[in-house]
Amino acid sequence: MLLKRFPYLTILASFAVVIAVLYSCRPKSEAPTAFEEASADTLSVRTAPDTAAIPNNEFGDLVRYGRELVLHTARYIGPDGMVGKYLGNKMNCTNCHLDAGTRPFGLNYFSSHGRYPQYRARENRILSLAERINNCIERPHNGKPLPLDSKEILAISCYIKWLGEGIPVEERVDGDEGLELRLPDAPLNLNNGRCVYHRECARCHGVHGEGKFLPDQSTYEYPPLWGMTSYQPGSSMFRIIKSARFIKANMPHDKATWDKPVLSDRDALDVAAFVNSQEHDRPEKKGLDYPNVETKPIDYPFGPYNDPFTEAQHKYGPYKPIIAYRKKHGLYVNY
Ligand code: HEC
Ligand code: HEC
Repeated sequence: MLLKRFPYLTILASFAVVIAVLYSCRPKSEAPTAFEEASADTLSVRTAPDTAAIPNNEFGDLVRYGRELVLHTARYIGPDGMVGKYLGNKMNCTNCHLDAGTRPFGLNYFSSHGRYPQYRARENRILSLAERINNCIERPHNGKPLPLDSKEILAISCYIKWLGEGIPVEERVDGDEGLELRLPDAPLNLNNGRCVYHRECARCHGVHGEGKFLPDQSTYEYPPLWGMTSYQPGSSMFRIIKSARFIKANMPHDKATWDKPVLSDRDALDVAAFVNSQEHDRPEKKGLDYPNVETKPIDYPFGPYNDPFTEAQHKYGPYKPIIAYRKKHGLYVNY
């Protein structure tokens, strides 16, 4: 009634909401680089090898096809894929493994080939590289595994092998994990996460985290961050610390680089908490992960645990007491 008689009140009310949201947002905090102590020039990060150097033989053909699959995964093996329907969504490996798995601190594959077969805590057994690839097809892509002897698994494995040429077996290279973050003493702040999301992320990933399709709807210009077309809760990207380490180095996509990040550690953690919070739907989690509780990462948000902390604390922190407890009792600390 009142609003009908005084239409300007509606406008005033919308303003009030926007101002209230902005007011409740903390001022943007500066983003010190994660390398204040160990400066960026002390690291020797590996960068992408020249694709012109892929050999012209049978191995090289597989490497080229593998790279193509990593870049255009949905086109080949997506829900409408031309060689088979394996993925449950239309994301591509390169959406997370940036620049076809070659970006420093962007989940690159450089050292991967030399570190498999590897004991994997999530499955509590030794996994080959091929099985690890299928892990990402089943979890972030919410799909069904490729046959282990398929040309596609072989091609992706060959591409990963080629990327890692010259890196000794079992060794890591600088930049093949996320950025180190300083963990706060308090629990993460979902309100601040929401503010950071709307300030820094929504313009590409959408107000509802839905992303944006390419005009032909075959895949995304901006991949989704939550919802039924996004990654499922068994994915590593659902773990808040792991996800924040990726976000800090790489997002917003058009501005951040690992050595000049845009977000502070705190903002990266809070926005990762908001993106992965319970208020957002995702496909159902499949399978039993970490059957051996001894090896569960601290930010894995599903119990049981071998420490007295709740699922909520494992998810949103404060993490330091968990780390301190685990260290004190000689337990596994991983995040
Ligand atoms: C939603 C994001 C996302 C998508 C999409 C995705 N992955 Fe992953 N992948 C991850 C994360 C996160 C990890 C864990 C990295 C870690 O433990 O540091 C990972 C790990 C891996 C690893 C193990 C790397 C190592 O060195 O241990 C391989 C191999 C891999 N992914 C391959 C793929 C392939 C191939 C595709 C496409 C079919 C794909 N991933 C799609 C997020 C994703
Ligand atoms: C300028 C557009 C843009 C902005 C702004 C942006 N992103 Fe992204 N983001 C992308 C693109 C594009 C990709 C996929 C990269 C590729 O395929 O090469 C991506 C990938 C991701 C991924 C991994 C893939 C997935 O869908 O899970 C996450 C997580 C992510 N962004 C989080 C964020 C967060 C959090 C922010 C805000 C702090 C943000 N992004 C801001 C464009 C953007």
